[in-house]
Amino acid sequence: MTTTFHRGRRLRRSPQLRALVRETAPLLTEELIMPYFVVETEDQSFRKEVPSMPGQYQLSLGELEKQVEKAVDTGLNAVLLFGIPAHKDEKACGAYAEDGIVQKAVRLLKRRWPGLVVITDVCLCEYMSHGHCGILTPQGAVLNDATLPLLAQTAVSHARAGADMVAPSDMMDGRVAAIRSALDAAGCEDVPLLSYAVKYASAYYGPFRDAAESAPASGDRKAYQMDAANAREALLEARADLAEGADALIVKPAGPYSDIIRMVRDAVDVPVCAYQVSGEYSMICAAGQNGWIDQKAVMLESLTGLKRAGADMIITYFAEEILRQRLAR
Ligand code: PBG
Ligand code: ZN
Repeated sequence: MTTTFHRGRRLRRSPQLRALVRETAPLLTEELIMPYFVVETEDQSFRKEVPSMPGQYQLSLGELEKQVEKAVDTGLNAVLLFGIPAHKDEKACGAYAEDGIVQKAVRLLKRRWPGLVVITDVCLCEYMSHGHCGILTPQGAVLNDATLPLLAQTAVSHARAGADMVAPSDMMDGRVAAIRSALDAAGCEDVPLLSYAVKYASAYYGPFRDAAESAPASGDRKAYQMDAANAREALLEARADLAEGADALIVKPAGPYSDIIRMVRDAVDVPVCAYQVSGEYSMICAAGQNGWIDQKAVMLESLTGLKRAGADMIITYFAEEILRQRLAR
């Protein structure tokens, strides 16, 4: 008698068979990017856990060096730096200061580990007294064009400090073009631009804003970040940034937007990076700590999902843990 139904279980009978037919390759050490929060402080032993992000810390330069040392020993290939300045103002002066905290962190890491890929987040919110990503009018609107020169100056200062790649996350229109031409004019034509091209206005950023102390004092970011309901618009943003000179693109958040990762991956020919954001991380940790899920398994499953969706690289707060537990090749 012939079988009339599909026997999908035949190829799932052993770990070896499953490995043989597996579609998505295991995580690779080199494709993981670990974010760090660096604090401008005199106290070189400053190290403070972020309450809403278990296992993630605000770190002084000295503590950053120790933390990265351990991670590099387990194979870490790339980091993404965020700065928390000692002083905030209305012009985000700390963002583009030659001796700003990110600039110092870049110099420190590159001096110690020349091969480590050091990526910097280029934005102004952490450095603004009001917490918005650009210059604010008295009425509370974020000015687009007036913000561009500050972003460009920030990116150039990061590149001059030795950053391997700059990643603008502000969502101002035209910032990729502005940053690219400023980098080129400064003799940094070899520094690639990893654009947060597809960045949604997301409640999943909540824990990050505790970590980076960058929550807007009033209002939200919906007038510059994308509407969560939009998919087609992601391609518009991706193509615009490519036309302006982006070398690679970020989609963010990642898990709830894996349809967007797939769309972008299929539509462009540059590397696509998924950013598994703070809220995604914290939710997995919280459920894990409660014993409601198997944290290690869900961590791996969430990242495999991003690779399956088409991500070439992944920014994740789990990067250190994945390497520590030798869960990547
Ligand atoms: C800065 C920035 C944010 C994130 C990355 N860069 C916060 C925001 O836009 O409010 C979020 C990262 C995360 O949640 O892990 N603009
Ligand atoms: Zn910002």
